[in-house]
Amino acid sequence: MIHFEIESDRNVFEDALAFAHEQVKRLIERHPDYYPIYTKDGKWKHEGPAWTHWCDGFLPGMMWLFQRRAGPGGADSDFWLEQAIRYTKPLEARKQDRDVHDLGFVFLPTYYRWYQKTKDPAANEVLIEAGRTLALRFREKGQYLRSFVAENSLFIDIMMNVGLIFYAARETGDRKLRDIALRHALTTRRFLVRGDGSTAHEGIFDLETGEFLREATHQGWRADSSWSRGLTWAMYGFSTCYEYSRDPRFLHTAEACADYYITHSPDDGVPPWDFSAPLESRKLLDTSAGAIAAAGLLRLSRLLHDPIKGHFYWCTALHILRNLCQDYLAKDDKKWEGVLKGGVYHLHKNLGVNESVMWGDYFLVEALEHATR
Ligand code: GLY
Repeated sequence: MIHFEIESDRNVFEDALAFAHEQVKRLIERHPDYYPIYTKDGKWKHEGPAWTHWCDGFLPGMMWLFQRRAGPGGADSDFWLEQAIRYTKPLEARKQDRDVHDLGFVFLPTYYRWYQKTKDPAANEVLIEAGRTLALRFREKGQYLRSFVAENSLFIDIMMNVGLIFYAARETGDRKLRDIALRHALTTRRFLVRGDGSTAHEGIFDLETGEFLREATHQGWRADSSWSRGLTWAMYGFSTCYEYSRDPRFLHTAEACADYYITHSPDDGVPPWDFSAPLESRKLLDTSAGAIAAAGLLRLSRLLHDPIKGHFYWCTALHILRNLCQDYLAKDDKKWEGVLKGGVYHLHKNLGVNESVMWGDYFLVEALEHATR
């Protein structure tokens, strides 16, 4: 019975990956060299604002995953390698981008995978420089990497990027870099992760003293609510921190976030856009948070010392993936250009609401690739 379930999951996941291949091929044929963020009525190309420039790594990131999956000599392997390089190269200049806190999102799905495949030192140099650039956002007063919005602002999302600094520190042996990554993660853990495992989106600090002042949000319902994507960024990001540091505090934090996610999500594991929004508003789901949760739980399950809990996280990830694939793929809507429907980018700005979002498609593909590897 269990065997049957695993085999049927495999078929569902392989079909979903095949669909993602098709949609990405279609996108690059229709809009070559374009890096979308979110769809409007299912179409990637539109004039809607970006709010912030953080998503360019996700499209080539999917191509690197397709390439790895195809394997050497596999069908389409050369095609995906060529496309992955073509879409990755133009990102190099972002290694000096001081305007965003998102360099991990840009470089880990792209240059990191390129380097893993080729061991070309030039690719590693790009990663290291990007990690050093990101570390320049560190504020001694307050002990955090400042967000793109202001000097006094710390975002939970930065936990997904801090891995790039850990990586650069490891590759160079630079202890100061590692220290910045550790201190940022400890500050985030202390002020943005609550006792019940939920997370605040943003923390505001006193610029003079570095004192933490209050919780805040941009994309969540309220300052004291739990924006579901932020929670999944934390779950995944603290797992990465633990992988690099082996500091058990980060593992416990990732588990606390995962447990909050699991206990507060509906049965199918696909969460509302904000766990604390009023009942009516909670009908709006964010499938991208579901995809990130699945990808994060698969990673976390490998890190736990307790095999039973690890197995539980692994099975929960498969459960979420199964439901995403069965209920939210855009397969039956021939005009829809994304892979996963039902993502939410920025509800208050009305950007990408109930649409496909590039990171939702990317983390879905990452989780599917991991689960079927
Ligand atoms: N700005 C990152 C996010 O929307 O999750």
